[in-house]
Amino acid sequence: MPAFIKVSEDRIFHLGNGRISYVLNVSAEGVVEHKHFGQAITRVDNLPRTEKRVHRSCVLHHQDVPNYNLNDVAQEFPLFGTSDQREPALHIVNDDGNTTQVFRYVSHEVSEAKPALSGLPSARGDDSQSLILTLHDDVVNLSLELSYTVYADHDVVTRSARLINNSDVAVSIDKIASTCLDLPADDYDLLHLKGTWARELNEDRFALPKGRFSIDSATGTSGNVHNPFMAIMDRSTNEHQGRVVGLALMYSGNFAITAELGEFDSVRVLAGINPFNFSWHLPAGDSFTTPEAVQVFSAEGLNGMSQVWHGFVKNHISPPQFANQARPTYLNSWEAAYFDINEDVVLELADRTKDLGLDMLVVDDGWFEGRDDDTTSLGDWFSDTRKFPNGIEHVGALVKEKGLKFGLWFEPEMVNPKSQLFAAHPDWIIHVPNRVSTTGRHQQTLDLSRQDVQDYLFERIDSFLSSGHIDYVKWDMNRNMSEIGSAGLAKDQQRETAHRYMLGLYALLEKIVTKHPNVLFENCASGGNRFDLGMLRFMSQSWVSDMSEPIGRLPIINGASYVYPISVMASYICPVPSHLNGRQVSLKTRAEVGFFCAARGLSLNAEDVDADKEALKDIAVSYKATADDLVNGAFYRVKNVEQEVCWQLNSQSGQHVYLGYFHILSAANLPSRHIRMVALEPTADYRLQGTDQVYSGDALMHMGLDMPYVSAMQTTDDEFMEAGDFASRLFVFERV
Ligand code: DGJ
Repeated sequence: MPAFIKVSEDRIFHLGNGRISYVLNVSAEGVVEHKHFGQAITRVDNLPRTEKRVHRSCVLHHQDVPNYNLNDVAQEFPLFGTSDQREPALHIVNDDGNTTQVFRYVSHEVSEAKPALSGLPSARGDDSQSLILTLHDDVVNLSLELSYTVYADHDVVTRSARLINNSDVAVSIDKIASTCLDLPADDYDLLHLKGTWARELNEDRFALPKGRFSIDSATGTSGNVHNPFMAIMDRSTNEHQGRVVGLALMYSGNFAITAELGEFDSVRVLAGINPFNFSWHLPAGDSFTTPEAVQVFSAEGLNGMSQVWHGFVKNHISPPQFANQARPTYLNSWEAAYFDINEDVVLELADRTKDLGLDMLVVDDGWFEGRDDDTTSLGDWFSDTRKFPNGIEHVGALVKEKGLKFGLWFEPEMVNPKSQLFAAHPDWIIHVPNRVSTTGRHQQTLDLSRQDVQDYLFERIDSFLSSGHIDYVKWDMNRNMSEIGSAGLAKDQQRETAHRYMLGLYALLEKIVTKHPNVLFENCASGGNRFDLGMLRFMSQSWVSDMSEPIGRLPIINGASYVYPISVMASYICPVPSHLNGRQVSLKTRAEVGFFCAARGLSLNAEDVDADKEALKDIAVSYKATADDLVNGAFYRVKNVEQEVCWQLNSQSGQHVYLGYFHILSAANLPSRHIRMVALEPTADYRLQGTDQVYSGDALMHMGLDMPYVSAMQTTDDEFMEAGDFASRLFVFERV
């Protein structure tokens, strides 16, 4: 069924697609009330009754309407100052200093074209219907537009808000959310993704407590402590059953998502730019647009929710030219050579890349003027002619002559104080006057709110990409903001700096990716410090985490998969012992965990490559043969318990099914382990590759299969895992 938006005469709005419904209505007082987000509803002309509580004592009667208390009403964009004392979606300081606003519904518009958001990334809108509700506050003469889009093929509603100052005085926005989702009283669980550097995106689920639970960032990035995503579900929801609402922001800077279990047991979820340390001076005649919030619904548990996210990211967020393209396999120079790189080393690594049968060589750091370690040279985006006498583009051309693709690392948003750029433009960094600027990885953040900074970076990056010898860019970003202020902004605009930085970054990215549509971009921020829908709108893939060691990566990929498809994830086979945690993990396990990311490669030096050459060649063959399935297939979390993780990937046609089983710590006398597969065709037959065993889909799903036994014995017998810790097995089934 196509997406639809139906509007009844008594101002009930029904957004749907036959599977989900989003229902809101306008009350007699002009308040936009929220009615439903969930399974499809056929009749909205006569909605089930909403019981009104009899309000007593200190409880308020909104604008004198008996027993109409906004504290007890689900709303689309709640305001502060009248009868709702929960956290509001908007907080504005009016010209006369008070903070009360009353926005009332004025009009609406339905369209097939999804309007783009000014200066901000947003989901593409094909096969969708959009609604804009316009509200107005007559006293302060401000308008508010609430935008919604519902999609035919995805159970998603996107939202954003725009505040327009029609008055002749400026106002100050202290808070403006992208969305509010008021859910009815019930028992809910909350799931979010938390962590830190190299341990990002770990899942955390708990019963929503009374009060407010917030995740946020004030680092200038969406951050690695909390991902800008939250799911609220019925307490009984599990992986395959139950209702769940997931919400993620398409924003890469400071965000906040709050879930409030209020006095009457309803839940309010608010998401948007973090109001902490934010204030926006909105002059007369100007407007402010919020980032977009993406909300998904599934009645089929967390897996159902993830499938909606994966399909939506692929079809409406990822750059379309790469969304369905098999990713090149690669050798990355970082853990292979770090800064010790020059033309000879690169060409030698290129020979290894070619010899192994990989597709691309990536020079990761160390190639630009003076960059011998991480204390120097960020900002000086010129080839280091000591290392590359004819320029890095020339090396790119030589690498390409070998039949390979060539990739290059940049960290455009940063500058080392030890650099020519900083010497020439000390004012170009985020800073506040008369204070020492804190460093992080010996670097400062360039002030991307400035047009001159954006122009310099565009000119430098464009000069390399225009050579035509660069197929891939790893866009890195390795510190958080401190002493947040801009020399380019007035005193009363200093708290706009972090958001203006994001607008500057998005403008720069838009310009670069538009001019170079055939360059594949990978997002990285010390791994997953900015792994969000905003960056994924410009970049086809993301370095999920600096944790390249596979066992450390298991919970990261598992957590990330709640929202993000593996088509956007990058991994490589790391050296051993791991440079991150010292673990010694077999090549087999490194390759089999790495298998479950669409962009796959290795970061090994020439010696490491030579030591395992034949095995690495086999891995390259397998990675290349399955590259299309990784981008276009469907990923499932099958098991995630203390010592075991199991994932399944079904190719798009269902012809190939990959089951990865990972056993973390070995122990004596363990019980047998059993896995039930998912999402197979019940009556189809599946042959287990490498054997003549054929099983029916329903047997694999409902009866399941025992995993190879975890034993201390060193054995080559297929029925056993390899001895010791960190064992893995990749089963490949073919539908016959
Ligand atoms: C941090 C990234 O996360 C690494 O993968 C690598 O690119 C280094 N930066 C290079 O400096």
